[in-house]
Amino acid sequence: MKSENLENKVAVVTGGASGIGEAVTRVFVERGARVVVVDLQQAAGDALVGELGDAVTFIQGDVSERSVADRAVATAVERFGKLDILVNNASASRVRPFVEQTEDDWRLAMDTGLYATRNFMLAAHPELRKAQGAVVNFASGAGIDGQPNQTSYAAAKEAIRGLSRVVANEWAVDQIRVNVVSPMAATAGVTRWAEANPEQYRLSAAKVPLGRFGDPVKDVAPVVAFLASDDARYITGQTLMADGGAIKLR
Ligand SMILES: NC(=O)c1ccc[n+]([C@@H]2O[C@H](COP(=O)([O-])OP(=O)(O)OC[C@H]3O[C@@H](n4cnc5c(N)ncnc54)[C@H](O)[C@@H]3O)[C@@H](O)[C@H]2O)c1
Repeated sequence: MKSENLENKVAVVTGGASGIGEAVTRVFVERGARVVVVDLQQAAGDALVGELGDAVTFIQGDVSERSVADRAVATAVERFGKLDILVNNASASRVRPFVEQTEDDWRLAMDTGLYATRNFMLAAHPELRKAQGAVVNFASGAGIDGQPNQTSYAAAKEAIRGLSRVVANEWAVDQIRVNVVSPMAATAGVTRWAEANPEQYRLSAAKVPLGRFGDPVKDVAPVVAFLASDDARYITGQTLMADGGAIKLR
């Protein structure tokens, strides 16, 4: 069944050249949206534009830089006339015990997670206000559950949830909605790991009530599309777990 709940919408998707962000870009385009993808990976971005055509524009840049956020919003307006949806998906981090995490590790997680999300929300605000738009930010079970070796990442992700709840309240007056998705998905990296470590994958998947890691296109991107769409017009300030039931928020 083809869903068209993003017809005529214009979106910025950070980290949209691979992984979950690529899946979001594909599903958004399939549902009628036009997308400005921002990512570090030039070749992957070019390939996506080559495949999806005029519905996608690619900007190579680091989401930590405010100027990149400004450029993304300006490109959406110049190329597609407006901006309805911001998806803050990009993030980078390093995994090691708290006492071994360096200043640089913390900067990486905070800059690409919390500050990038803040930068893009600030840059997008004037256009989102005109469009009565929607923001979808990204959290992680690593933060909600406190997974070992992920302090800087977990802290950035939980800070994003706090930021999202506050801004959901502040921007509600303009009918801008701000929600969060916390996914679990077998991206290419996770799939490679699973193939190399089948027993570990089996044990990890067994902890997920639905018995598997999610598919980025079929299981996670549609949840992002829902929150970004008018179908979710009465939902704001929420975190939706797209994780097979692994974590139940109350
Ligand atoms: N995959 C999962 O199971 C999972 C679990 C919990 C949370 N998440 C969250 O979901 C989101 C997507 O995860 P993923 O697994 O697809 O990640 P990924 O690492 O596979 O992809 C991230 C994308 O962001 C881009 N990127 C990284 N740093 C960037 C920067 N500084 N500037 C611009 N682009 C940058 C990368 O090039 C890549 O295309 C992230 O926010 C992640 O924390 C994922």
